[in-house]
Amino acid sequence: VNIRLARVDDLVGMQACNLHNLPENYTLRYYIYYLLSSPQLSYVAEDNGRIVGYILARMDEETGQGEEAHGHVVSISVLRSYRRLGLAKRLMVQSQEAMAGVHRAAYVTLHVRKSNRAALSLYKDTLGYQVQETEKGYYADGEDAYVMRRALKIGA
Ligand code: ACO
Repeated sequence: VNIRLARVDDLVGMQACNLHNLPENYTLRYYIYYLLSSPQLSYVAEDNGRIVGYILARMDEETGQGEEAHGHVVSISVLRSYRRLGLAKRLMVQSQEAMAGVHRAAYVTLHVRKSNRAALSLYKDTLGYQVQETEKGYYADGEDAYVMRRALKIGA
């Protein structure tokens, strides 16, 4: 399985993967918007031409109110039969390195469901994210989200 930068012609495959794996779905225009806004931050895992995993990420720019530029992971998922192979970890590391190296992001954030054990373990135990706060009722079905955050080494 090959990890590479996502291209515009991957977007249909990324969307299909997202629809299989998560209840949080997006219209193609959002994928295109993120990819064109931050083209170095989104990656795919590809097996024989099929998209089996993706990470969709963007930059949140400085607000001028003391907020540093930082990356945000919009969505990541891996097809069931390709899980526990280290693909999500590789996708996350690639995107984080580009956030720091290309955009000089000081940190990265994401939202995750409180009940999502697999993703929480990936973020906390494998990648060193910490829970910053809880957003009550963040998801459409009312579930709370953890806002998680990890510092990045600028230029790394
Ligand atoms: N249970 C416990 N820990 C897990 C699990 C699990 N099911 N899956 C991964 N982990 C942890 C482990 O620590 C694992 O290391 P190990 O295999 O050496 O023990 C580590 O994460 C790395 O695992 P990967 O193999 O890199 O993860 P994988 O490629 O299987 O993908 C993912 C993990 C993305 C969470 C996958 O299970 C998935 O697609 N789930 C459905 C979609 C989803 O929940 N996406 C995240 C939503 S939040 C967001 O998008 C910002």
